[in-house]
Amino acid sequence: MKLPRPLVERLTGARHVMALTGAGISAESGLATYRDPQTGLWARFLPQELATPEAFHRQPRLIWEWYASRRQLVERAEPNGGHRALAAMEQRVPQFTLATQNIDGLHQRAGSRRVIELHGNITRTRCSGAGHFVDSWPATDEVPPRCPQCGEPLRPDVVWFGEMLPPAAWEAAADAAQDCDVCLVIGTSAVVRPAALLPELAQHAGAMLVEINPEPTPLTARADVALTGPAGTMLPELVRALWP
Ligand code: OAD
Repeated sequence: MKLPRPLVERLTGARHVMALTGAGISAESGLATYRDPQTGLWARFLPQELATPEAFHRQPRLIWEWYASRRQLVERAEPNGGHRALAAMEQRVPQFTLATQNIDGLHQRAGSRRVIELHGNITRTRCSGAGHFVDSWPATDEVPPRCPQCGEPLRPDVVWFGEMLPPAAWEAAADAAQDCDVCLVIGTSAVVRPAALLPELAQHAGAMLVEINPEPTPLTARADVALTGPAGTMLPELVRALWP
């Protein structure tokens, strides 16, 4: 891959690099994205029936079981070269911030140390009442099981449509966006707010905006560099080219 010279210069001289990732970086690990035609989850299911607090209230069993089956897929999946390249980048740049919209934990399993999870993590469980985090609960036939502390139904620790992002995660990501020299936007359709605002924040504050995606997105036209291709190939090539 021939990298544009300004990109090489900015990345090798960068003080702070930020990466924002989305479902596309885990596609090559076999996990479905949300909006890709045919294969995306939201091409097959309605988000308002599976990913809102109202849906959970209406059909807690269905939602619990849907996330349980997705959790199994996540646990069976392995990080790919794209995840590993970002873990390697963290070791090589003075300051590196990885903010992900993904709930699959694959960045951490690939070795990334500091990961800002904007939309939670499917492997964690909390109660739908006071939000207690729960690691285990007494065996029960009830689905979903109830919080051992307060008796409210348990739910996955993921952000649903209409819910706020965890404030500390959002603040850390917004701060990084305004401080970074380069913002890499990888495998996201860049349509879900507020995460989709991060690249704009970064660019307004003077960062070079670099997109890595096989398909165009609403961000492509304003990106300073668009690397067209799958993250599992493009990211390892980028890291090899910059730090041979
Ligand atoms: P989307 O499904 O909206 O977008 C996935 C993007 O990945 C698309 O732009 C694809 O072109 C791209 N893509 C596909 N394969 C790729 C590959 N091998 N390498 C790189 N890119 C690839 O997923 P997100 O943008 O992550 O929210 O979706 C954002 C949020 O919407 C998710 O976090 C989730 C969803 O509803 C919540 O669950 C709160």
